[in-house]
Amino acid sequence: MARNNAGKQPAISEEAHVAAAAVAATATTAEAYDQNPLRDPRDKRLPRVAGPCVLVLFGVTGDLAKRKLLPAIYDLGNRGLLPPGFSLVGFARRDWAHEDFAQVTYEAVKEHARTPFREEVWKQICEGIHFCPGEFHDDGAFDVLAMMLKEIDETRGTGGNYAFYLSVPPKFFPTVIEQLKRTNLAKAPEGAWRRVVIEKPFGHDLKSAQELNAITSAVFPESSVFRIDHYLGKETVQNILALRFANTLYEPIWNRGYVDHVQITMAEDIGIGSRAGYYDGIGAARDVIQNHLLQLLALVAMEDPTSFDADSLRREKEKVLKAVRLPEDLGTGTARGQYTGGWQGGERVIGYLEEDGIPPESKTDTYAAIKLEVANRRWAGVPFYLRAGKRLSRRVTEVAVVFERAPHLPFSKDDTEILGQNALVIRVQPDEGITVRFGSKVPGTAMEVRDVSMDFAYGESFMESSPEAYERLLLDVLIGDPPLFPHQREVELSWQILDPIEEYWAKHGRPDGYPAGSWGPSSADAMLARDGRVWRRL
Ligand code: BG6
Repeated sequence: MARNNAGKQPAISEEAHVAAAAVAATATTAEAYDQNPLRDPRDKRLPRVAGPCVLVLFGVTGDLAKRKLLPAIYDLGNRGLLPPGFSLVGFARRDWAHEDFAQVTYEAVKEHARTPFREEVWKQICEGIHFCPGEFHDDGAFDVLAMMLKEIDETRGTGGNYAFYLSVPPKFFPTVIEQLKRTNLAKAPEGAWRRVVIEKPFGHDLKSAQELNAITSAVFPESSVFRIDHYLGKETVQNILALRFANTLYEPIWNRGYVDHVQITMAEDIGIGSRAGYYDGIGAARDVIQNHLLQLLALVAMEDPTSFDADSLRREKEKVLKAVRLPEDLGTGTARGQYTGGWQGGERVIGYLEEDGIPPESKTDTYAAIKLEVANRRWAGVPFYLRAGKRLSRRVTEVAVVFERAPHLPFSKDDTEILGQNALVIRVQPDEGITVRFGSKVPGTAMEVRDVSMDFAYGESFMESSPEAYERLLLDVLIGDPPLFPHQREVELSWQILDPIEEYWAKHGRPDGYPAGSWGPSSADAMLARDGRVWRRL
């Protein structure tokens, strides 16, 4: 680990520098991967490794850094996927030395890393850890950061390749981006790269998203901007593409001729925790429907891309988002709720309005349900029902494609009364897998038919556990591989879908209450009941 404070030469062992720089100078990424002594030769799932580089993390004291980002860096290292000389620079308003940040990282890794702790991996990562104390508006701190990066290039062979990860509230984006411009850090010298990673929210409506983008794109070219929607990093979400485009089984029935409707659910059992400052005024629809759920919808509804490169994939997703139509009556085609006190997991929990930092008159939705249509030849007339909420009965995210009923049943009514509709359910989390539901004969002398399920579970079919979404996305940033990052056009199209709904809600009353631990407000059930349907019971 580097020692002492910002601007000083980090004290890293001489041999480590020499070895790292030597490998970095000569190795291709594939060679670097092969030469890495920590590489697991059985690990074929992510056999890609970035070239030498530095990851600069703004917002290292935040929850995301602690729970996801720092552990993901360790997990990548543990799997031999970090380049030799890889360095991590934390930037925050803390009076820390490099050692303090290393200690914070160590604790985050110990508590949240997915892969087992290995001293030798930690040691290697630790050698590249640096900290730069400062505030975002402080020119001096950014000058120190620029110096520090230059020194790291010299000592660790990172070649001027920097990724700047903005894990900070959006109000700070302009200042940080302006500082990166002022210090010339945004501009890559010949043969090097500079990338910026932005965490959602990308604005809170179309206008603010455009403003934010104008700030970013004035400094970084679009190809250097990586917008994180962590759902796209989830294995189960990428598997939607595999399921649809690597198989012949589903394509013939993946359309309005066979699909009755689609339900996309993101249910969380947690409340807002300590995130009142972010969440209030944002709400469930802006927090997760605008991004995660609309991305899921796009992946389920899109046509096959000509390849999985970023342009082809994004183009197909954009076509879907452009084809999305809102219900004519937003009053009956949407529902929103706000949790009240209740019971969850055997414990009494407080309501949203009692949470710390929430104004008593807040109208923020903690539950949102929206009915959408994708107006194209494949999907016209098929409703896509999206719902998301906090403090629901359990944590589950899934996409359920529900098929039409059989047009004719040659059975007596008694035999088939409880028969439901065929469904294909992509279980995104926590019980990752796919379920197919269909009717089957109950053993016996009568022709009694009942619904049964056929299951694929990741845990049973594959030996290894899935990488965390942030592991995959961080690796893609360092490699410079953009397919799993939404383009600004997708962000804007998604706000165009949501803005009219938010405007309608703002003018019409307040969210309906629903008790914590329930499945949301009755208005959401009524929304489906009007269409003769019910939400899946999860
Ligand atoms: C984030 C939202 O994008 O996703 C949070 O801001 C939410 O409110 C989180 O809790 C859920 O992520 P996951 O991966 O646990 O489903």
